[in-house]
Amino acid sequence: MPVLLKTTSPQDIENPYRVIPAEIYDIVQESPLIRTLKLRPDEPIVFKTGQFIELSIPGVGEGPFTPSSSHFETERMDVTIMKTGFVTNTIHQAKTGDRVGLRGPFGSHYPLDTFEGKNILILGGGCGLAPLRSLFLTLVHEIDRYNSITFFAGAKSPKDCIYKQAVDEWKQYPKVTFVRAVDEVPAGQEWHEDVGVVTVLLNKLDIDPADNPAVVCGPPVMMKFGARDLLEYGFREDRLYLSMEKKMYCGFGQCRHCVMGKYYACKDGPVFTYEQIKNEEDIWE
Ligand SMILES: Cc1cc2nc3c(=O)[nH]c(=O)nc-3n(C[C@H](O)[C@H](O)[C@H](O)COP(=O)(O)OP(=O)(O)OC[C@H]3O[C@@H](n4cnc5c(N)ncnc54)[C@H](O)[C@@H]3O)c2cc1C
Ligand code: FES
Repeated sequence: MPVLLKTTSPQDIENPYRVIPAEIYDIVQESPLIRTLKLRPDEPIVFKTGQFIELSIPGVGEGPFTPSSSHFETERMDVTIMKTGFVTNTIHQAKTGDRVGLRGPFGSHYPLDTFEGKNILILGGGCGLAPLRSLFLTLVHEIDRYNSITFFAGAKSPKDCIYKQAVDEWKQYPKVTFVRAVDEVPAGQEWHEDVGVVTVLLNKLDIDPADNPAVVCGPPVMMKFGARDLLEYGFREDRLYLSMEKKMYCGFGQCRHCVMGKYYACKDGPVFTYEQIKNEEDIWE
């Protein structure tokens, strides 16, 4: 039987509908389609890395997003958002000083207690780097607990790379290997790092997959082939963690929008092991 990851159920939250207002105190335009909102909630929000919150724009709507900041930061929260539709387009028009609402946190988180003493692989691309940045910053905050962190990050092209401001700093952290790849380098864009889909970076991996965790997040096609390649490499199904960003509405098991076979992505996930969901239908859609 697959082991279920710990989650925050609606029963654990006093009132899952309660909205905590937050001020946008800064905005970083990461790429043409992705920006990071730096938020100051009116009261501290305690979450575990990997969980998500529902972010609302008054009069517009709300959507699920994973904080991209460390879970050790409770008085501020970063949320990295890609423009895809109505709500996210409106979020991309927001300005410093505007206010949004936050509900949650909801769902499962990365089981950091089982990562202790391990060599951790983080693999992601596009806006899937948002929860992975949160995981990475949480891990480096207590780096002595872990043996090493290898972070492979992908993007379509150099201009689509996010967190550019932080990369040089991340590469300097002790016990950290941070490597980037882009799918292609269009004419006129400069790039001196790896080229190819992010999984090509597995050629550089130097850890024993049998006893170490791997965490993956990205667009569905990247998740599918990333999971396949990591399993072929030798990672165990119960140590391969996937953040499943399914369509959601309520965020806590009431509306059934997020059903994946016998699971609800919102309350049983969003973080699942591959072992848990491998037999469910349409997991990569
Ligand atoms: C647990 C979780 C965490 C997420 N974290 C982030 C994050 O950190 N940053 C980020 O940019 N996005 C994240 N998403 C996706 C984000 O919630 C959606 O992109 C957003 O809600 C779309 O709203 P919209 O009104 O702008 O788009 P819509 O107009 O509703 O849809 C536009 C397009 O986006 C797709 N879409 C809509 N909802 C989702 C969804 N939940 N997941 C994937 N695609 C969707 C639609 O199929 C459609 O193609 C997360 C989703 C989940 C479930
Ligand atoms: S989002 Fe409503 S049940 Fe999962």
